[in-house]
Amino acid sequence: MPAATTSFVQGASRGLGLEFVRQLLAVNDGASVFASCRNPENAAELQSLKSQSSGRLRILKLDVSDEKTILEAAKQLEEQDERVSLIINVAGVLHGPGFSPEKKLAQVSSQALRAVFEVNAFGPLLVAKHFHRMLRHDRRSVFASLSARIGSISDNRLGGWYAYRGSKAAQNMFTKTLSIELGRVAPNAIVIGLHPGTVDTGLSEPFQNGVPKEKLFTPEYSVTRLLAVISDVTSTDTGKVFDFRGDEVLP
Ligand SMILES: NC(=O)c1ccc[n+]([C@@H]2O[C@H](COP(=O)([O-])OP(=O)(O)OC[C@H]3O[C@@H](n4cnc5c(N)ncnc54)[C@H](OP(=O)(O)O)[C@@H]3O)[C@@H](O)[C@H]2O)c1
Repeated sequence: MPAATTSFVQGASRGLGLEFVRQLLAVNDGASVFASCRNPENAAELQSLKSQSSGRLRILKLDVSDEKTILEAAKQLEEQDERVSLIINVAGVLHGPGFSPEKKLAQVSSQALRAVFEVNAFGPLLVAKHFHRMLRHDRRSVFASLSARIGSISDNRLGGWYAYRGSKAAQNMFTKTLSIELGRVAPNAIVIGLHPGTVDTGLSEPFQNGVPKEKLFTPEYSVTRLLAVISDVTSTDTGKVFDFRGDEVLP
């Protein structure tokens, strides 16, 4: 991204989000970075980045399952900078207390469906609702959401993982729909989904058995690749999902 821009990373306490913040601070000396998480007081690594950032990193409290916190975080960011060049939605869930990916229909539960859709699908859309004004300016801007290849309907050959697959497919539809609306009111804004590959984080940790070593990426590698994709996309790419190589993931 060009110098002296403002970026916002949503879901930055750990995993890929934390690494996005680290790399955005490292590659771009003039840039401001806003990072949000549910519990800033517990996000020790993010706080440590903040203390080393000479004021360039500011932390916002935001839980995507609580719309009031999204509204409040948007107000706080807008008070400090009305023009944002990059918003990255990273927060996502695959497993949590009392649920994990379903292997068969009998394991589907409404509680898990709600929990997973709320973060993975509704989260980025509600962030768009409250933050999109800051992308409406005369410079290029990107609104990116971490998706997953598993959300591709045409790529689904194995079945299973109903909640996660469905939530990412829904997120991709929201990405496309948002791209059409922003195309009318904010023509410099590019809206994309991103597949990071299989990355060694808490989200993938219980499912890493059987992933060949060379296909399990570090957060450093994946985020470097994704930031390159973000730099390369143009207005003709809006509404699409890209993997860490820059190849389109078909719906
Ligand atoms: N890792 C992979 O292999 C992989 C593959 C494909 C796609 N992805 C996608 O990449 C994204 C990042 O995944 P990751 O691997 O970095 O996962 P991770 O290490 O498990 O981190 C998940 C992040 O989401 C945040 N989060 C969860 N619920 C939230 C909520 N209600 N509000 C705000 N933040 C919330 C967590 O915050 P707390 O610390 O507060 O829990 C944490 O920062 C996800 O969207 C995931 O679906 C990952």
